[in-house]
Amino acid sequence: MPAPREGLVLGIETSCDETSAAVLRGGKEVLSLVISSQTDLHARYGGVVPELASRAHLEAVLPAMREALAMAGIGLADLEGVAVTRGPGLIGALLVGLTAAKAVSFALGIPLLAVNHLEAHIYANFLHFPELEPPLVAFVVSGGHTLLVHMPAHRSYHVLGETLDDAAGEAYDKVARFLGLGYPGGPVIDRLSTRGDARAVSFPRAIMHDGTYNFSLSGLKTAVINHVRKLRERGEDAPVEDIAASFQDAVVEVQVHKVTRAARDTGVGRVVLAGGVAANTRLRERLGKELKGRGINLYYPPLDLCADNAAMVASLGWRMLDAGEVSPLDIDAAAVLPLGSSSVTSP
Ligand code: KG4
Ligand code: ZN
Repeated sequence: MPAPREGLVLGIETSCDETSAAVLRGGKEVLSLVISSQTDLHARYGGVVPELASRAHLEAVLPAMREALAMAGIGLADLEGVAVTRGPGLIGALLVGLTAAKAVSFALGIPLLAVNHLEAHIYANFLHFPELEPPLVAFVVSGGHTLLVHMPAHRSYHVLGETLDDAAGEAYDKVARFLGLGYPGGPVIDRLSTRGDARAVSFPRAIMHDGTYNFSLSGLKTAVINHVRKLRERGEDAPVEDIAASFQDAVVEVQVHKVTRAARDTGVGRVVLAGGVAANTRLRERLGKELKGRGINLYYPPLDLCADNAAMVASLGWRMLDAGEVSPLDIDAAAVLPLGSSSVTSP
């Protein structure tokens, strides 16, 4: 008689600058989560260097997988599926994780589950809140993406809006780099803002009232840079806490306005935040307050599940396994991969 299925899935994530492996039982119970960050490696360059990222993933991926299995107290033979981020992300970085996952799948004869990274960020919410169900609006804000999405049912997405230029995290990182605050910039700006005056400088709120669900942040970024340059030319001091707080306030105000409108227009009772910028304290607070006033609940994952991690990948992978959505071994990594595109076929 075959042993009862426990739903043990290994997740692997290598899309950017985090090498991560996790083991989940039944898609919701995290038995282990290992995250090996490369931020120190990239910090001196002020952003992720793709070549360095690929090499660091190559060194870290097998130890991370071994550690995740050991922490979970299981062996390779216990696995029932292997889930991996297929895209979007840095192509060389993605290939490292995908190749490792294919090897495990082929060697053990278990299903390969090729996951969309953006979708996995959304599913970090279903992992953390077992009672949460669609319909909902998801706001995906990361280093590479800003997407406002209506999700009427599981695995179903209607993109309402997106960024016309810089992604949210990208804008935080670029402004931080200009201010000499290091990489990644989001957490530093978030922290400094708590000590600054958000009304010190009135930065532009781009396309706030244009009637779309789109975002634009490059003008704001330029406005911050010009403001600081002018102050420096005049020999005046620019209190970095005030600049950080004023910049963050401009970003968050437009986000809160558009996300609230999307929730109202689609008639959903729940909004979820996803991606690295979902860690932003001001966004969480302001949006939570605004939505609460309208009887809408806001959800966001804990910090370790907001950043890139393999638990969200394994969680979504388990759902795919459960639905019989298995990926072929010749599936390719995809630097660009729209939300909701198939994990079963190559592009
Ligand atoms: O999702 P993520 O870990 O990686 C990508 O898939 O891009 O997101 C990383 C981004 C970085 O740009 C980082 O600066 C930003 O998330 N971030 C934040 C905060 N924590 C991380 N941005 C604003 N506030 C934060 N607290
Ligand atoms: Zn991410």
